[in-house]
Amino acid sequence: MRFNMLKKIHLVAAVLFISCSFFYSCYYDNAEFLLSETICDTTAVSFSADIVPILQTYCYKCHSIEMADDQGEGYILETYALLMESTNGETLVDVVDWIDGGANNMPKSGSQLPACERALIRNWVAQGELDN
Ligand code: HEC
Repeated sequence: MRFNMLKKIHLVAAVLFISCSFFYSCYYDNAEFLLSETICDTTAVSFSADIVPILQTYCYKCHSIEMADDQGEGYILETYALLMESTNGETLVDVVDWIDGGANNMPKSGSQLPACERALIRNWVAQGELDN
């Protein structure tokens, strides 16, 4: 009787362990949605809260209103309206994902943005490039 109980407990533990590691691996496969140990939440991306800080950090040194003529060949990524005049969401995704390569890789002469930042930009575009 006692022996059977133990066996049952072991069985339950084994099933739990296997399913947990299975789900964990599924979850972990979405590595680009993990940033350090923080989950990268791309479900409802906000232009002002998510995208502007990324552009500020990585792009304004060449693409702010002030710097664009000098450093960014006139492409302004500051304010929603000017960004939309200078470029569009699809191009933004291409340049940060290094789709076309070479001179079109942004940040120019820099390293590629972290996966989470790129996923945020991609999803902001997929969600309709809203001024939100
Ligand atoms: C060191 C300066 C510099 C930085 C930093 C930089 N860019 Fe650029 N960017 C340029 C220059 C110069 C061009 C003009 C085209 C070229 O020379 O490749 C350009 C062009 C662009 C274009 C227009 C591409 C086209 O073909 O229409 C986009 C969009 C763009 N950059 C986005 C970004 C984004 C997004 C970031 C930040 C993640 C960024 N850039 C960071 C210098 C920079």
